[in-house]
Amino acid sequence: MSKIGLFYGPEGGNVDKVAKTIAEKIISKKVEVFLVKETDADKLKEYSNIILGISTLGKHTWSSENTVNDWDEFLPKLNKLDLKGKKVALFGLGDHIAYADFFVDSMGDLAETIKPTGAELIGQISDEGYEFNESRAFIDGRFVGLPLDEDFESDLTEERVENWLEIILPEFE
Ligand SMILES: Cc1cc2nc3c(=O)[nH]c(=O)nc-3n(C[C@H](O)[C@H](O)[C@H](O)COP(=O)(O)O)c2cc1C
Repeated sequence: MSKIGLFYGPEGGNVDKVAKTIAEKIISKKVEVFLVKETDADKLKEYSNIILGISTLGKHTWSSENTVNDWDEFLPKLNKLDLKGKKVALFGLGDHIAYADFFVDSMGDLAETIKPTGAELIGQISDEGYEFNESRAFIDGRFVGLPLDEDFESDLTEERVENWLEIILPEFE
C-alpha cells in the first residue's frame, strides 16, 4: 500500500489532537501529516490515499470576511484539482449539544467540495450512537465521514477512531 497523506486544520485544537491520534494509530502504514494552512492543495496529488480533518466553527465560517480560517486558501484550490483514482476519507470535529442543528456541517461541505475532483470518498458511517437534529454531513442515511465530539464525548473518540480505521485502512491501496 502506498503512503497516506493526512491533511488537517485548524492547528492547536481538537482537530489537531485527533489528527495526531489517528496518525499514531496507523502503525502499519506510512503516514505523512500536513497542516492545511501551511500546505498547497497541489500536495494532495502526491497521494492516492488521503485523510482530511476539519472542524465546524459556525455556519458563517466559510464566507465570513472577519474570520481567518486555516482552510481559507486550501479549499478554493481543492475543488479544482483532478483527484481521479484517489481515495479520500474525512473526519470532522463538532459539538452535538450546542450545535445539534449544524452538527459537523463543515465535514459535509468538505465532501461537496471534493465531488468535482473525481476522488472516491470512503469511510462513510451510520449514525448509530450519535445524537443530533440536523447535519449537512449526514447524506442518504450515512455520515460522509467520521464525526467526533471532543467537547461532550471525548471518551468515545478513541473507539470511534479505531472502528473507522478498520473500515478505511483495508480500502486504501
Ligand atoms: C464559534 C464556534 C462555532 C461552532 N459551530 C459549530 C457548528 O456549527 N457545528 C458543530 O458541530 N460544532 C460547532 N462548534 C464546535 C466545534 O466544532 C468543536 O468545539 C470542535 O471540537 C473544535 O475543533 P478545533 O478546536 O480543532 O477547531 C463551534 C465552536 C465554536 C467555538
